[in-house]
Amino acid sequence: MDATIGGAGHSAEILQRIIPGGMLIGIDRDEETLRLASERLKPFEGSFKLVNKNFKYLKEVLKDIGVEKVNGIIFDLGISSIQMEAWQRGFSIKNDGPLDMRMDRNQALTAKDLVNRLSEMELSDTIRELGEERFHRRIAKRIVEERKKKEISTTAELTNVILRSIPYSRNKYKIHPATRTFQALRIRVNDELGAISQALRESPDVLQRGARVCVISFHSLEDRIVKNRFKEFKTNGVFNVLTKKPLTADENELVCNPRSRSAKLRAGERL
Ligand SMILES: C[S@@+](CC[C@H](N)C(=O)[O-])C[C@H]1O[C@@H](n2cnc3c(N)ncnc32)[C@H](O)[C@@H]1O
Repeated sequence: MDATIGGAGHSAEILQRIIPGGMLIGIDRDEETLRLASERLKPFEGSFKLVNKNFKYLKEVLKDIGVEKVNGIIFDLGISSIQMEAWQRGFSIKNDGPLDMRMDRNQALTAKDLVNRLSEMELSDTIRELGEERFHRRIAKRIVEERKKKEISTTAELTNVILRSIPYSRNKYKIHPATRTFQALRIRVNDELGAISQALRESPDVLQRGARVCVISFHSLEDRIVKNRFKEFKTNGVFNVLTKKPLTADENELVCNPRSRSAKLRAGERL
């Protein structure tokens, strides 16, 4: 099972190794992404099933398609490059678009709602906790000041508010100064920590003996959830943990895939 099919890069590699005879289940909560994945996987027609759902409903997904257990699950968390680069989706600092950030466009809550409705304190806490942004207080204060004058409704407007609220010197920052705030809002809009936490909790019930779960995370809070859940499963005799320390990208990978810089992979095996 590829719980985060995205551009289907992992799925195509998995399919090449399991056909003939194997079946891949691909999940994505983004309908558009799933459509693209289905096109990319055309050569493997008949060997995969795609499901448009949040992976946090792991058990339900399998029940709906009549599968009891799987022998492997990969989670590659966060958003894909395709989502990141599409201005209409509102994830991007570089391309102006509506302040949206929903992976699932049928969901009601958007980043615009959070930015214009959360209290200053809630904004500040979210940006600190999920963005690990040290200027969280100043950013929250400025957002609240600006939205009194006019609703903040595009990514460019939010970026400008952030740039005006922090001491900004381009040379000092390796990443764009708005990156951490955007990350925090995205994680909250999509309840990303809640989703991986629930999916891992359900995972032992859907894994055959010897089945492996791999999780690639990009955020320290996400990695902590995975680490602690695996530890708990190990203590309870449910899992063997295959990665004492998380695996990270080597130098070659970093050169050809810079986004892997913060990726951490942990793997567990069902006992
Ligand atoms: C980093 S990308 C995966 C890229 C993929 N591994 C590939 O090879 O192209 C993450 C994907 O997972 C999806 N996703 C993230 N959280 C999800 C969730 N809770 N349920 C279902 N899909 C999710 C996103 O919509 C996105 O398409």
